[in-house]
Amino acid sequence: MADLSVSMAGISFKNPIIPASGTFGFGREYLDYYPVSVLGGMSLKGTTLHRRAGNPPPRIAEAPMGMINSVGLQNPGVDYFLSHELPKVADEDTVIIANIAGSAIEDYVESVRKLEGSAVDMIELNISCPNVKMGGAALGSNCTSAGEATKAVRKATSKPLMVKLSPNVTDISEIARAVEAEGADAVSLINTPIGMRIDIRTRRPVLHNNIGGMSGPAIFPLAVRMVWQVANAVKIPVSGIGGVTTFQDAIEMMMAGATTVQVGAAMFQNPMAPVEIIDGMNHWLDEQNISSVREIIGSVQPW
Ligand code: SIN
Repeated sequence: MADLSVSMAGISFKNPIIPASGTFGFGREYLDYYPVSVLGGMSLKGTTLHRRAGNPPPRIAEAPMGMINSVGLQNPGVDYFLSHELPKVADEDTVIIANIAGSAIEDYVESVRKLEGSAVDMIELNISCPNVKMGGAALGSNCTSAGEATKAVRKATSKPLMVKLSPNVTDISEIARAVEAEGADAVSLINTPIGMRIDIRTRRPVLHNNIGGMSGPAIFPLAVRMVWQVANAVKIPVSGIGGVTTFQDAIEMMMAGATTVQVGAAMFQNPMAPVEIIDGMNHWLDEQNISSVREIIGSVQPW
């Protein structure tokens, strides 16, 4: 069997596949399906300093080849995460990534300080949620505020820091370079592009928030393009996210330059998707006589 291990931000992952934040709860919800220790890592539900009820419903809309959400970072808050959620997965042999969101830079800083000394292996700084008015994508959409948020959080944590980027910007490579310059150890991308659906009977948007973040196979080519551009713009590793559904998608994402691959909306249809992707990737590498998955990272040869 091929060697599936990769290294990102100084952390060893037994394989590159990570369930994406917001699609995998706090990990314990999946323990009935399979041992989560088969996963390279898991990025847990976006967590803020204080609990949040999220946006009013409807918060989910169907879309061709995907869906749109405007959940609005519903979560129980970092203290509850530490006392009730993290202990349920802390002993699992996989990389635990805490996805931290906030309304202001100070919130992010206080949250990551609380995680120091915990079983969390890595922070994913979520400055790209499109569904909140303060913080989120408002911070991550320009180089100055994205850099400031990264710098402040970098100072506040000794844990490896990955910054999750928004595709809803003019040039995602510039934002990636800005967070790299302020101490990010890795970047993950893409968070969801903003979309909208309208109910033609009522003439109202389907989502109460009017707009929301698109995910699913529809966004895969957009994600591959941005991963490729960012991987060529920065020296730090990239975690590729966006519409990955099959092992072939994961391989394509890695060829574009991703060191790890996050699987999100696919799990809503098939909770086993990450496991099947790991398995499929393993067989494909064997068929191709490739001894290590690391050989395919960034191996695309542009025309
Ligand atoms: C949400 O909770 O609205 C989605 C989180 C995100 O896109 O970062």
